[in-house]
Amino acid sequence: MTELANKRILLGVTGGIAAYKSAELLRRLQDQGASVRVVMTQAATEFITPLTMQALSQHPVHLDLLSTETESAMGHIELARWADLILVAPATADFIARFVAGRSDDLLTAICLAANCQLAVAPAMNQAMWSNPATQSNLAAMQARGVQLFAPGEGIQACGEVGEGRLMEVPDLVAATCGLFPRGLLAGKTMLVTAGPTREAIDPVRYISNHSSGKQGYALAEAGMEAGAKVTLVSGPTSLAAPPRVELVPVVSAQEMLAEVQARAAATDVFIGVAAVADYRPVQCAQQKIKKAGNNKLTLELEQNPDILARVAALEPGPFTVGFAAETNNLVDYAKGKLHSKRLDMIIANNVAEPGIGFNADENETTVITAARSLPLPRMSKQALARQLITLIAEAVNQ
Ligand code: PMT
Repeated sequence: MTELANKRILLGVTGGIAAYKSAELLRRLQDQGASVRVVMTQAATEFITPLTMQALSQHPVHLDLLSTETESAMGHIELARWADLILVAPATADFIARFVAGRSDDLLTAICLAANCQLAVAPAMNQAMWSNPATQSNLAAMQARGVQLFAPGEGIQACGEVGEGRLMEVPDLVAATCGLFPRGLLAGKTMLVTAGPTREAIDPVRYISNHSSGKQGYALAEAGMEAGAKVTLVSGPTSLAAPPRVELVPVVSAQEMLAEVQARAAATDVFIGVAAVADYRPVQCAQQKIKKAGNNKLTLELEQNPDILARVAALEPGPFTVGFAAETNNLVDYAKGKLHSKRLDMIIANNVAEPGIGFNADENETTVITAARSLPLPRMSKQALARQLITLIAEAVNQ
């Protein structure tokens, strides 16, 4: 299970004896696919060392609010923006009181005050401190502000007393954390997307290429990631930044794209070929820049590039394979031909005949075709189309 795939959790550790359990909690959250960073209060470092948490999280542990080093690496505002969830476990009575009072005089409270994301608090304290009206009133105020309370259990406490106040058990904490995130349509799946153009070298300074901007492929990678998939984007040269939490594998030529796709395709659940792969490449790339002197005409000999999509579709067992067909005429017929000849599970017939849609545009107009049906979609932004396609693909994959 990787119910927390792509999720970023900031684990706040405060100073109580249950702090030793935060190391186990961190590992179990990672098991669910979460990326975890740790903030510790000064008191927490008396119970468990930052080195332990650093080794487990594989990131520096954040300790100080007023440290130039910390602020220049990933400051408190940046940490607050980074997280999808801030989980404070264990949370002491003192932390809860200071949080409710809106204090920001240490790193953890400052981050909580600056955060827009979901906050969850797992208290751990002596049973008398827990039942004290001051603590109970603080807990009620905290929950009234939308903070999730992972309530403590009853039992023998570290101080020898018996009662309520033990940190929720780690498996229960992990389950409660998973419960805060709706399960994505592609949760636990891997997705490989090709995007952008390829460049086929003629000489050291010239190449054959096309007008693909990468916008549609990058939008699909982002929509897949939002649906919970672990996404790798193999992209030809574009001016776009990789969507957050998507692994970008930059390539230049069709042969490089093929190699990177082949290295990953067998282990992927969904493959989407959005790239405008050059069908042909020069048989030879000149070692030096070709001179025009004496050449009124120049003939380039081209040879066919391998068909990346068809090779992925031929894998046994292979991923659910989706192609795009950029067409200027006979859109649906040509796309259906490619669906059958390349043995695809789905093809997106893409109208590239009109201005404002297709190559290097912000919108697309498509028909989604499978063996069973054709579904025309109206013109829409590439982001909206990406989300619709991911829903259709997830329906098919999860059947
Ligand atoms: O990048 P944008 O500016 O956002 O534009 C998006 C787009 C128009 C490029 C995109 O939506 C699109 O239609 N991509 C497919 C373009 C294309 O080259 O289609 P094709 O009919 O030539 O290829 C059919 C399919 O085979 C495609 O999935 C293509 O990735 C794949 N293919 C083609 C040739 C080849 N050698 N290897 C391949 O994998």
